[in-house]
Amino acid sequence: MRILVTGACGQLGAAVAAECGRAHEVAALGRGDLDVTDDAAVEAAVAGFGPDAIVNGAAYTDVDGAEDHPIDALNANAFAVRALASAARACGAALVHYSTDFVFDGEAGRPYTEADAPAPRSVYAMSKLLGEWFAADAARHYVLRVESLFGRAPGARPAKGSVAGILRALAAGEAAKVFEDRTISPTYVIDAARATRHLIERGAPSGVYHCVNSGSATWLELARELARGLGVEPKLVAVRMSDMALRAQRPRYCALANAKLAAEGFAMPAWQDALARYLETVRHDLAREAAGRQA
Ligand SMILES: NC(=O)c1ccc[n+]([C@@H]2O[C@H](COP(=O)([O-])OP(=O)(O)OC[C@H]3O[C@@H](n4cnc5c(N)ncnc54)[C@H](OP(=O)(O)O)[C@@H]3O)[C@@H](O)[C@H]2O)c1
Repeated sequence: MRILVTGACGQLGAAVAAECGRAHEVAALGRGDLDVTDDAAVEAAVAGFGPDAIVNGAAYTDVDGAEDHPIDALNANAFAVRALASAARACGAALVHYSTDFVFDGEAGRPYTEADAPAPRSVYAMSKLLGEWFAADAARHYVLRVESLFGRAPGARPAKGSVAGILRALAAGEAAKVFEDRTISPTYVIDAARATRHLIERGAPSGVYHCVNSGSATWLELARELARGLGVEPKLVAVRMSDMALRAQRPRYCALANAKLAAEGFAMPAWQDALARYLETVRHDLAREAAGRQA
C-alpha cells in the first residue's frame, strides 16, 4: 500500500510513519513539506503521491493557546481535515484522523464509548470535534480518539507532553506537580501507531474508534507507577485542577472504553504495560542525563 502521513515530525505522526514504513511505501511529510492548511497544496500532494491511505498527524495542539488563537486552531484542526477528506475522496484513499478525549465534558461516571454524545468545553476541543465531522466526508475514514500521548518512535524528536515532563522530574529527583482529580486513559504512541496500521490493513468499517491504552488512572496514580518503574522515591505534589490557572477547561474524568477497536481485532495493552515498555526505551537516556548531572 501507499500511505501518506502528514505532520510526520510530530509525536504520533513519526510513530505512524515508522510503523507503516515496515510494510508499506510511506510518504512522511512534515510541516515543511506540506502545510495542511493550504488546500491547494494538500490537493496537489495527495494527487501526486496517489495514496491508498492518508494518515493525518498534523494538528494545532496548544490547548490553552487555542483560547487566544481560535482561527489557527480551526484552520489546522478542522478546515485542513476538510481538505484532506476531499483529497482522499478524489483518489479513493482511506483517511485516518486523530481526535481527543477533550470532545467530552468529563462529567461521566464510567468510561466513555464512541456512542456517547460529545460536549466540548474549549476552543481546542471544538476545533477537534469539527475535524471529526469533516473527516467523515472521506468515503473510508477512521477517527481515532487518543489521549495523553506518551513515547516516541526511534529517531524521532524527544518526547514532549506531561508524561515526559513528570519522568524528567522524577529522574532528576525534583518535585513534580500532578493532578489528583483528573482521570485519563493514557496512550502510548507506539500502540496507537500499530492500531492505525491494523485498521488500514484490515479495511475495518469507517467510524470513530477510541484508541487508548486499556484502563484508566489519575495523573497522580500514573506518576506513582512511573516512579515505581524507575525505582525512585517520588516527590509528587498532588494538585487539583482548580488550583491551577489553566486557560482552557479540561475534562475531569475521561477514561475511554476501547472495546470497539478490540472487536476489530486490535486489543490495546494495559496502560501499565505500555508505560513499562516506554520506560525501557528511555532508561539509557535517563542514565546518561544523570551521569551528566553528577559530572
Ligand atoms: N498530545 C496529546 O496528548 C494528545 C491528546 C489527545 C489528542 N491528540 C491528538 O493526536 C494528534 C497527534 O498529536 P501529537 O501529540 O503527535 O502532536 P504534535 O507532536 O504536536 O504533532 C503535531 C504536528 O503537526 C504539525 N503541524 C502543525 N500545524 C501544521 C500544519 N498547518 N501543517 C502541517 N503540519 C502541521 C506540527 O509541526 P510543528 O511542530 O512544526 O508545529 C507537529 O509536527 C493530534 O491530532 C492531536 O490533536 C494529542
